[in-house]
Amino acid sequence: MMRAPGGWRRFLILLPILCFLPYFFSVRELHQSTTIGDLPTKRTKFDHLVLGPAAGQGLPNRLQCQGSKALNKTKFSTSSQVPNFGEKIEFVTVFTIYNSTISVRADEKASNLVTVGNVSYSKEERSMAILNTFVNFIQVTMPQSNLVILTDPASDFSISRNGVTVYPIQGEYSRDKLMLQRIRSYIAFLETRLREVSRRPEHVNHYIFTDSDIAVVDDLGHIFHDFPNFHLALTFRNNKDQPLNSGFIAVRGTVDGISRAKNFLQKVLEVYKSKYINASRMLGDQLALAWVVKSHPSFDIRRFSKAQAFVEDVGGASVLFLPCAIYNWTPPEGAGQFHGMPLDVKVVHFKGSRKRLMLESWNFFSSSSDISDMLCLVLMSGRTKYDF
Ligand SMILES: *[C@@H]1O[C@H](CO)[C@@H](O)[C@H](O)[C@H]1NC(C)=O
Ligand SMILES: *[C@@H]1O[C@H](CO)[C@@H](O)[C@H](O)[C@H]1NC(C)=O
Ligand SMILES: *[C@@H]1O[C@H](CO)[C@@H](O)[C@H](O)[C@H]1NC(C)=O
Ligand SMILES: *[C@@H]1O[C@H](CO)[C@@H](O)[C@H](O)[C@H]1NC(C)=O
Repeated sequence: MMRAPGGWRRFLILLPILCFLPYFFSVRELHQSTTIGDLPTKRTKFDHLVLGPAAGQGLPNRLQCQGSKALNKTKFSTSSQVPNFGEKIEFVTVFTIYNSTISVRADEKASNLVTVGNVSYSKEERSMAILNTFVNFIQVTMPQSNLVILTDPASDFSISRNGVTVYPIQGEYSRDKLMLQRIRSYIAFLETRLREVSRRPEHVNHYIFTDSDIAVVDDLGHIFHDFPNFHLALTFRNNKDQPLNSGFIAVRGTVDGISRAKNFLQKVLEVYKSKYINASRMLGDQLALAWVVKSHPSFDIRRFSKAQAFVEDVGGASVLFLPCAIYNWTPPEGAGQFHGMPLDVKVVHFKGSRKRLMLESWNFFSSSSDISDMLCLVLMSGRTKYDF
């Protein structure tokens, strides 16, 4: 599963995650710590699980916890619905690892080791562990789905898990261009799938493009059922400047769904290139996404203020807007108010410095087999900054 780093050096890029606040763990931090060491992060980040109070206690429809025991058992609908007979869900993520040109001394490497449970991880192994945990959760909650990892053909990376395919796509995956490239890779992937489904229209796969630091904690196939007419789905939150998160994009796998989603992403790409190419490399895609949606004349942005799914035609596609609170849940960092965890949460995003919690959660779930209890752990610990 995890490869020990050999005598060669590499650094890696783990795609960032921005749902509630733009906290930039990811690329820049990883890069800095391979070059200048971990000093700035060691002071404030914890190397062990830290639990705080569970937010949202006493609120209706929010998970109630007693310690890490859940008082409400969430409806964990394991392996339930493949949307229709013969239809499958395919998760798609972009992940790259490169050999670093900077050499890291052996003692420096040892001081960079981080331990979770009884396993120690180097920087590279940490990213691989996140990717593997991402796969683990999907294989528990949606065992009939497949995963595709889009990567740079030059990326030095392999994973052998059942149901997981690595799919190299030529492109420019440098750190500056990564979010731009991610959209391009999504488009290139959709083009290949469009050709396939055009040949075999009876064979439909639906696609969910996500960041790799998420845990899918419930079946997601139902969205293709419950909202039968959308072409693509995005997650939104009540945030004026960044209402849309690019970490979760679902695409209906019909000829119509794929081609309209592809056209939509092409518009986003054009806007990214023409308006936001100089925005922080973490933000460009989300700003472009928001621009495409908001600039649509009939779109009412007040709909983002209520955490309720809705469908709207934007840019020639029928777009399903799903609330982050359920499909892309992450607590705010720092002191900001938040109101706990909805009982029907489906995706938890371990954004920013919560990566350790993703692995700790998996370990906890592995021993307790209880998703609801695990969600209490996440709820109590989700605002802690970790070292992982
Ligand atoms: C969740 O559990 C609490 C405590 O047992 C209970 O008061 C509340 O009604 C439950 N909420 C739901 C929606 O079942
Ligand atoms: C680590 O812990 C797990 C669970 O307690 C156990 O199954 C596994 O064998 C341990 N691995 C090592 C290398 O000790
Ligand atoms: C990384 O290093 C390995 C071993 O030296 C080599 O086989 C591989 O081609 C390199 N990958 C890249 C992307 O340079
Ligand atoms: C981005 O910055 C470069 C260099 O500062 C500038 O030449 C270019 O016009 C800028 N592009 C946009 C779209 O603002």
